[in-house]
Amino acid sequence: MENRENEVRRNECGSSDVFAVTGILGYSGRYMAREIERLSGRVLGLTNSPDKPNPDGWRLCPLCWDDPDSLAESLRGCRSLINTYWVRFNTRWFSHAQAVERTKVLFEAARRAGVTRIVHVSITCPDARSSLSYFRGKAVLEKELEGLGVPYSVLRPAVLFGEEPGEDILINNMAWVLRHLPVVGVPGNGKYRLQPIHVRDLAALAVREALREDGKNNVVEAVGPETYTFYELFSMLGRVTGCRRPVLSVSPWIAYAAACIMGIFHRDVMLTRDEIRGLMEDRLHVEGVPSAGSIRLSAWAEKHAAELGKTYACEMARRKRS
Ligand SMILES: NC(=O)c1ccc[n+]([C@@H]2O[C@H](COP(=O)([O-])OP(=O)(O)OC[C@H]3O[C@@H](n4cnc5c(N)ncnc54)[C@H](OP(=O)(O)O)[C@@H]3O)[C@@H](O)[C@H]2O)c1
Repeated sequence: MENRENEVRRNECGSSDVFAVTGILGYSGRYMAREIERLSGRVLGLTNSPDKPNPDGWRLCPLCWDDPDSLAESLRGCRSLINTYWVRFNTRWFSHAQAVERTKVLFEAARRAGVTRIVHVSITCPDARSSLSYFRGKAVLEKELEGLGVPYSVLRPAVLFGEEPGEDILINNMAWVLRHLPVVGVPGNGKYRLQPIHVRDLAALAVREALREDGKNNVVEAVGPETYTFYELFSMLGRVTGCRRPVLSVSPWIAYAAACIMGIFHRDVMLTRDEIRGLMEDRLHVEGVPSAGSIRLSAWAEKHAAELGKTYACEMARRKRS
């Protein structure tokens, strides 16, 4: 069945078709680019960080935010644009508001270049009225696509995991906490839910959408096959890593303070106040939608139990390489 699907996609993907991918030297963008290559398509990586390591040897083009004409020129001839460009949390150097403005410039450049489809990675439960700038910014960008006039697909993942432990941040660092602390505190009651999706499932979805030729818009709740409460997620990771710990409910402020201390220890931002609020508002869960992926977090975690959480995954260290 899977081989048949692969064959169909390969036929849909001409070897001269070029797909532009942002975040190609980041996390999920790299898997999307690999998926395109697997189907014999060609990849153009659009990046802000041409000095980052490029072990796959992607053809790269700088993202010239101040020069929309050259941005449009670099996209000319591309069949689709897959956009992962974003920032996890606001910093002094880069913010959600800036990411929103730049992404608008990118969308407009894609329109002018005649790109036939935009695949944009968003988040579960985007919300234009939210006080959380992550979810608000994502809603603004979805709205922007609605008015752009270019067929689009929006993918809304909750949280990513895989392919190797430590490539993702949240799941790995939850396992790291279990390995290193005698007891774990979850903010509030821990009953808010998450539906993690494997990065390869998300990549396959992105490329499937990038190949669409029907001109229709599509919004996909890109959630994985398993749903966990935050509490259950710690329990499952504790079981598979052999580090079962008491999981206690604590006030969000205590959880935040503990995350800050661990963050300082690693010169990182482990979890922000907004991320805690997003979790507690149940925003990483969508009710009653089918799974968009097939790889189960529990099976993946069991397979990688020996390495999962052995090393802390540091967001800030990744950015230093930018
Ligand atoms: N990771 C998750 O668990 C998760 C969950 C839900 C939704 N999403 C969404 O999925 C998309 C891809 O996520 P990802 O984790 O694969 O993204 P990522 O690799 O962390 O970031 C994608 C690209 O955005 C740019 N970027 C990220 N942080 C930056 C910073 N601090 N300063 C400057 N540029 C920065 C970088 O572009 P350059 O390399 O060109 O500099 C990076 O390659 C995002 O839109 C995200 O909102 C992710």
